[in-house]
Amino acid sequence: MMTILATVSDSLIDKKHVVVIPVFEGEAFDQQIKGVDDALKGTLSAMVEKGSLTGKKKSCHLVPTHGLLPCTHVIVVGVGKKESCTNEDLRHAMGTVSRTLQSIKSAEAIIYLQKGIWDSFEYGKALSEGLVLGGYQMTGYTKKDQETTGYTSLEIVASLALSQAFLDGLKVGQVVGQGVNHARDLANTPANLLTPSLYVKRIQELLPSSSGVSIEIIDAQSAKKLGMNLFLGVAQGSTEPPYMVVLRYMPVANQAPIGLVGKGVTFDSGGISIKPANKMSEMKGDMSGSAAVISAMWVVGHVKPAVNVIAVVALTENMVSGNAQRPGDVVVGMNGKTVEIINTDAEGRLVLADALSYIQQQGVKEIVDMATLTGACSVALGDLASAILGNNQSLIDTFLSISEQTGERLWPLPLYDEYLGYLKSEIADIANASEGRLAGTCTGAKFLEQFVEDVAWVHIDIASMMHYSCQSGYRVKGMSGVGVRTLVGYILNNVQ
Ligand code: BES
Ligand code: MN
Ligand code: ZN
Repeated sequence: MMTILATVSDSLIDKKHVVVIPVFEGEAFDQQIKGVDDALKGTLSAMVEKGSLTGKKKSCHLVPTHGLLPCTHVIVVGVGKKESCTNEDLRHAMGTVSRTLQSIKSAEAIIYLQKGIWDSFEYGKALSEGLVLGGYQMTGYTKKDQETTGYTSLEIVASLALSQAFLDGLKVGQVVGQGVNHARDLANTPANLLTPSLYVKRIQELLPSSSGVSIEIIDAQSAKKLGMNLFLGVAQGSTEPPYMVVLRYMPVANQAPIGLVGKGVTFDSGGISIKPANKMSEMKGDMSGSAAVISAMWVVGHVKPAVNVIAVVALTENMVSGNAQRPGDVVVGMNGKTVEIINTDAEGRLVLADALSYIQQQGVKEIVDMATLTGACSVALGDLASAILGNNQSLIDTFLSISEQTGERLWPLPLYDEYLGYLKSEIADIANASEGRLAGTCTGAKFLEQFVEDVAWVHIDIASMMHYSCQSGYRVKGMSGVGVRTLVGYILNNVQ
């Protein structure tokens, strides 16, 4: 595991670490960078003159020192103009730094900060988040994967005084980054190695009692007693038993908790309305919403904020078998509503409906659910944003402003009343899907809304962001771990 130490020192050149220098566009080198440049016989200033070293966003140079410095390389990373460098620019740049360090198999580095923007909590947080996220490596199952690569420690050296807020941000960002990496690990785990039962074990390992988060497990039998037939209907096609897992973090007396709900479909074959074979393997990531929720609770267990949180994740497979639920079946949900199953592949909303009913009985004051709910979300937004919908504009606005800080893009979609017409059933209160393909993400959310009573609720569809297909900045190929930063941002935002 990576540790980030932050020290204020100017002992740059005599260290054996790789030297990392973030540079702003259009700013002259300060004394310290000049020192490095002199030692490198003007290599850096020559690059500036040639116009190859600009400090522009997304630029990064790996400069070999050829023995002129004790370290093998200097990494110069562009962060853009000082005035307009956002948290996300910094996160992106630091992710690139991490991957560059990995490419030269460097175990240790120091980052040299010259005068700039290193004062706020958010910048400190973004800096360490980017480093930890970019350093993520998927655990594979080949011989090669047994060898460890990448760095383990990173020291931040600055010739200027770093503010306490910045240093606090560094600490929190490191924990959040690790939380996201936990979510990535969970989502990347093949579905045969992360059945609902194995998932429960992983949750128990991640959240020991010392975390302050308690775990209650609702098995199929208890779920039956609670009337969670929508959840059980999805699970019935699988031989793997399903679990509804409830996490409670309640450090504050007499305060209504905020509620988190996550879709944890450990494999989504589509059921009888089976999916096409192409990319079906990606459906091992259909528990990404729950992974974000679990990992956010892991972060909570480490940061220990003064706010009550209850989380519910619905863990099940969606499989095909002689016991599987059929299109046309009618099922009664925990809240008494009858649902006609038009499409067994619209299973996420079914498991979430009962999870939403359950969490409302726990006296939550607000709810956010997170789910890889609809393929239509990718059609609408590409892999650049998650969709947000809900029944309360002010809660949606809160999330939109949190998103500016966390760098996890959220884009609002409408929940028009008329969408309910798409879900009309001849024989039940509601259908779980429409036969058409219109507004898939909105209809999914509209369905969920029918299971929310008088409480502010937002739904975040992360299907579009579930998977990164290429490396860039802190994005590492594979499951993204998206949502953790948003949920942590929301939780911390609720600390009074
Ligand atoms: N898990 C899928 C959505 C999904 C697709 C997530 C691709 C990530 C990547 C979800 O359960 C699903 O199958 N949704 C259907 C809904 C439809 C049947 C109304 C879809 O999007 O096609
Ligand atoms: Mn599905
Ligand atoms: Zn699904």
